[in-house]
Amino acid sequence: MSDLAIRTRDLKKTFDDKEYVLRGIDLEIPKNSITFVIGYSGTGKSVLIKHFLGLLKPTSGTLEILGQNVNEISETDLVEFRKKFGVLFQGAALFDDMTALENVLFPLNEHRRDLSLNKRKEIAAARLKLVGLDEKDFQKLPAQLSGGMQKRVGLARALALDPEILLYDEPTTGLDPIITEMVDNLISSTHKRRGDLTSIIVSHDISAAFRLADYIAMLDKGKVLLFGKPEEFFESDIDLVKRFISKGIYKK
Ligand SMILES: Nc1ncnc2c1ncn2[C@@H]1O[C@H](COP(=O)(O)OP(=O)(O)O)[C@@H](O)[C@H]1O
Ligand SMILES: [Mg+2]
Repeated sequence: MSDLAIRTRDLKKTFDDKEYVLRGIDLEIPKNSITFVIGYSGTGKSVLIKHFLGLLKPTSGTLEILGQNVNEISETDLVEFRKKFGVLFQGAALFDDMTALENVLFPLNEHRRDLSLNKRKEIAAARLKLVGLDEKDFQKLPAQLSGGMQKRVGLARALALDPEILLYDEPTTGLDPIITEMVDNLISSTHKRRGDLTSIIVSHDISAAFRLADYIAMLDKGKVLLFGKPEEFFESDIDLVKRFISKGIYKK
């Protein structure tokens, strides 16, 4: 068995057959690691993680997830395959008219009908507890929760089906510093508590990357500019890496 969560070889993507958004990505992300994917806006970070989820198909190159070649998975099996992933995007994207508990119950109702409703509710409650939501808030609607609490619910929902890989796309972009720190800590504590989770965080928050990452991949114009441990980024002579680091937290 491979000890890699994700392995890409010369992964390329063009949407119009002219300009390539991904220009040959070679990446190996070890299982159970926290990996930050950083880089300036428009360099292909989101496009890359959409490939991980099977939402986009590569124009060429290979992509293996947990040892499986994604190109060889049929459309029907892809539904099952996606359950390996939990996803948290920039907004928490909760259902407005469902309580916190119902939001987390939703994927369980979709995919785990083999379990009794009581069991599903039990799991949903356990996930909310895992991310530190108070029991008194379980029956609240998203609008009754603070932004930080909504993020917790979103994360609990991403964890509902016990994913092997958790993908975050810009989880703290647009949040104030206090909530940013809370979400960063939540990413870290969730990772530790689960023990066998691979966490991949797309971010341009370089300071969070240095604080939390086992590995950092910096993309530039559809290529991996540098992949390595945070120390390797500090020591790098690559001009763009230096500039990115010196900005601290990159602002658009
Ligand atoms: N579905 C799409 N069709 C055409 N172009 C796209 C599509 N999705 C992304 N792009 C382009 O790909 C480039 C990289 O986008 P993206 O991966 O979202 O960047 P970022 O690194 O900021 O996440 C951008 O120029 C964007 O306009
Ligand atoms: Mg993006």
